[in-house]
Amino acid sequence: MNNPKVKLIFNGKEEPLELPIISPTIGNDVIQIEQLQEKKVYMYDPGFVNTASCESQITYINGKQGKLLYRGYPIEQLAEKSDFLETSYLLLNGELPDQDQYEQFSRSIRIHTIVHEQMRQFYNGFRRDAHPMSIMVGVVGALSAFYHDSLDINDPTHRKIAAHRLIAKMPTIAAMCYKYAIGQPFMYPENSLSYTGNFLHMLFGTPSEDYQVNPIAEKALDRIFILHADHEQNASTSTVRIAGSTGANPFACISAGIAALWGPAHGGANEACLKMLREIGTPDRIPKFIKRAKDKNDSFRLMGFGHRIYKEYDPRAKIMKESCHDILEQFNASDIPLFQTALELEKIAREDEYFIEKNLYPNVDFYSGITLNALGIPTQLFTVIFAIARTVGWISHWHEMISGKVKLGRPRQLYTGKKERDYVSSNNRSIKK
Ligand code: ACO
Repeated sequence: MNNPKVKLIFNGKEEPLELPIISPTIGNDVIQIEQLQEKKVYMYDPGFVNTASCESQITYINGKQGKLLYRGYPIEQLAEKSDFLETSYLLLNGELPDQDQYEQFSRSIRIHTIVHEQMRQFYNGFRRDAHPMSIMVGVVGALSAFYHDSLDINDPTHRKIAAHRLIAKMPTIAAMCYKYAIGQPFMYPENSLSYTGNFLHMLFGTPSEDYQVNPIAEKALDRIFILHADHEQNASTSTVRIAGSTGANPFACISAGIAALWGPAHGGANEACLKMLREIGTPDRIPKFIKRAKDKNDSFRLMGFGHRIYKEYDPRAKIMKESCHDILEQFNASDIPLFQTALELEKIAREDEYFIEKNLYPNVDFYSGITLNALGIPTQLFTVIFAIARTVGWISHWHEMISGKVKLGRPRQLYTGKKERDYVSSNNRSIKK
């Protein structure tokens, strides 16, 4: 069928409006609605549940089939066979690198791992008990005050350097947040290590003792980075795109993304989920929490459950669940009862009519918190780990948008406020009760 179109008739009026239908490579067709503006009518879609805000070639999700592809590659294959830097190259550039490309890319990331020496002083301005995400928002945004030579968003070389800087410096900035909180000296990056090994070194090493990166922990964390690297137009990525559409510099845009990620409905859920599992404690207390989650008058939700897009098992949660038990046995067997509680909670919820009817399955955050905890990562750093990984997704989307035709992001609204009225001076105002 050539040029398929949708016809809309407003208020029974004769002249129908024909809206073009665009077909993606895979997934649902999209009705192009820009023309509706001429008819002085807007589309109302709170939470953008059914609105495609952009065209993108980076990530594809099929929520009903529980499928996630980065540049066409299934997440399961990347988690098993790739590493985070290779996956980052793939997301940024569209193809897997050959050996030379991989070496060049890793070298470029390595040479950018250090942050400007003056940035170390920023940390002293924060309280020691500040949440690391609050420091991340500030410090990452402040990168734009230090790296003026990569701020011209219209220059592809600047864009590439800014992207590499962000990917390289995020682990350094994150580890500094932790060191500051516990009062230990900041560790400089050790560039002979892998991307993830280096992060563990900056997190757990000290200048006074030799720190050996555990290869099992390194592999497990690298896999967590791969699983969190991108997830198409989620809340934080859309925030980055909207900020970027104004022409804001990439460091400011990523800082906006970090702020959006922080909330418990998004990246903050991994921290909230572990807290919830600890609060539940033992399997016999699960029914009480399930009851609360179902109660309309209780704001409590089962953290790590449900997803805007996945109405099937989140494929990342499947991978997390598989590796979680192995990691626990090797690193923190004392957390195995927590894992058993999580397994039992999942079982009970998945047999409950409420969760079945609403298609609520565990999401990536359900098992990632237990895994991170077993690796010795402090709970407050969970969302920071997510931010490190997601930076590559954010910057890939930003780059994709800026490389094409940029349209300022500016949604409409359904106004339900007062109609136009005249100003009344204060002595003539009657207070309505
Ligand atoms: N526990 C109990 N009920 C839930 C849950 C949950 N975790 N999630 C959704 N519901 C219920 C809602 O109350 C709602 O019920 P209703 O139709 O009777 O009003 C229904 O399921 C649909 O929920 P919505 O909030 O409308 O769905 P939405 O797609 O907007 O929300 C979200 C998705 C925010 C992730 C939600 O499932 C949630 O709050 N989950 C817990 C937090 C969480 O784990 N977030 C991580 C998301 S993954 C990520 O960002 C990496």
